[in-house]
Amino acid sequence: MDLFLDLYGFLSVVLHAGELMARSVLVGAIAFLGLLAVPLSRRLSPSEGAMLIGAARRAILWGGWLTLGAVALSAGLGAVALIGTLELPVSRALGASFVLSALGVMACAALALMLARRAVPPALPLLALALLLLVAAVSGSHAMSRVEDRLPMLAATFVHQAGAALWLGGLPALLLALRLKWSVAAAQAVGARYSVLAVAGVGGIVAGVVGYYLGYVQSPEAIYGTAYGAMSATKSVLFSALLLLGLANWLLLHRFAQAGGFLPRLRRFVECELIIGICIFGIAASLTAVPPAADLPDDRVTWAEIAERAVPHAPRLASPSHSDLGIPALQAQLDAEWRARTQSERPQAFIPGEGFLPPRNAFDIAWSEYNHHMSGFVVLAVGLVALLDATRRVPWARHWPLLFMGLAAFLFMRSDPEAWPLGDIGFLESLRDPEVLQHKLLSLLVVVFAISEWSVRLREEKTSSLRGKRGPAAYVFPIAMALGGFLLLAHTHAIANVREALLVELSHLPLGAAAVIAACARWLELRGDGTREARVARWVWPCCLVFISGLLILYREA
Ligand code: HEM
Repeated sequence: MDLFLDLYGFLSVVLHAGELMARSVLVGAIAFLGLLAVPLSRRLSPSEGAMLIGAARRAILWGGWLTLGAVALSAGLGAVALIGTLELPVSRALGASFVLSALGVMACAALALMLARRAVPPALPLLALALLLLVAAVSGSHAMSRVEDRLPMLAATFVHQAGAALWLGGLPALLLALRLKWSVAAAQAVGARYSVLAVAGVGGIVAGVVGYYLGYVQSPEAIYGTAYGAMSATKSVLFSALLLLGLANWLLLHRFAQAGGFLPRLRRFVECELIIGICIFGIAASLTAVPPAADLPDDRVTWAEIAERAVPHAPRLASPSHSDLGIPALQAQLDAEWRARTQSERPQAFIPGEGFLPPRNAFDIAWSEYNHHMSGFVVLAVGLVALLDATRRVPWARHWPLLFMGLAAFLFMRSDPEAWPLGDIGFLESLRDPEVLQHKLLSLLVVVFAISEWSVRLREEKTSSLRGKRGPAAYVFPIAMALGGFLLLAHTHAIANVREALLVELSHLPLGAAAVIAACARWLELRGDGTREARVARWVWPCCLVFISGLLILYREA
């Protein structure tokens, strides 16, 4: 139970993101059926109409089962954590508002699954269920706990989540449909009708954002001065990238469709919308795990502090010694006392998961800054060599993934100096600390994508005619980049000082956003092999890497 409670903070954000995505896919698929497939099937040929309804039905079934699973897991573990921390009787925990909200969502999902078993699922009852599901979901949100302006905040949350489901939640159903064999006219009709739903979705999201600003943020200072505000701002950046992709799709469907051949491009852009969308849901889950900015009038970071922290300093080229760091230094002191007093058990300076924050001194800050700066230089080298490789004129440059192996080893060794291999705390024991777990996951991610990307480049070297015939290994890099971005956007820091934690977060959020953009660019390059957007994309992700390296080399913690 202790280990579970230690990791629950991080787990709950990941689970909640899964829950938000599954719910949105289910509601989005139902909207796709009721507002697009059924009305459009009357204008298409019977076989194409049946194909469209079939795709919507499959998306509803997927969304329904995923919602049942994700919501049961997220609410179930939430209830266990509640019982574990507050020692509540099970009956009381089951009465918690998030559990009741989850039960409502699951009941709607189960009913939707039953209705979707029919060959032509009934659209109206399903649309009513989708609205009920959103109401149940909103009853578990921040808005429900507001004393003042509860109703307007419930309304803002409802339209925001409805908009999210209509646009991003419907994408899997659209992608399933776009994979089918269509006449150009039918494909253009499906896409054009979907862009109307997407525009309505954007309207709902933006209307919600206005409500959130008025109710939960309330001042520009709260945007950069609180974690809630900073994450909302990061969402806006990714939202803008999504709008650009949405615009490209709109132009494809309304301006260039006659030219034909738009379908593969449309599919590629929709896939990128999904990648960015998944990370936006990650931020949404992280956002609702912290109090709204308006509830934190004190302890805000000032613009002056951010400006001061943003002043570039020369990167650290030398690391402080390990023994000077907070935990090793305290351990050495405790060991000396222990040896002097021959106590039975050797006292430990820091026990992961005990809920106490580790002792930190100026050397710890220097150590962390040195880690970021050195990682920055490695990522800079990777970005520059990858740019050389993009010229297709420097054969050795295709081996840039090997540089990442060095970075992975560096991060594994140094990201948590209190733990194995440098520190006293055993590897497994150290994983009780969510931050250590995330760091180790990140290093593992770097190794996985370095090895697979290098194997892809070696194969390309041997058989230059690989164009368009890339295996699944080629997709590990963009997926790992997107996952890394997701982790950076959704992860927390065990720093006592809220302002310090935010100043660190303010440097990690743009890192995460840049990683997501880079992942999309690499995805477009792979999927659109030889096309114009692929030729542009192959320069975009190395530039994102160079941008990321700049943030790392200029990173400061004091
Ligand atoms: C495609 C774009 C977007 C999607 C799919 C999306 C999705 C979501 C979802 C599903 C939630 C609910 C989380 C929950 O209740 O647990 C949420 C919450 C939130 N979103 Fe968005 N969002 C998007 C864009 C934005 C933008 C651009 C902003 C701000 C500028 C924003 C600000 C917020 C805020 C502040 C919350 C938390 C509300 C609360 O505290 O309950 N969102 N978003």
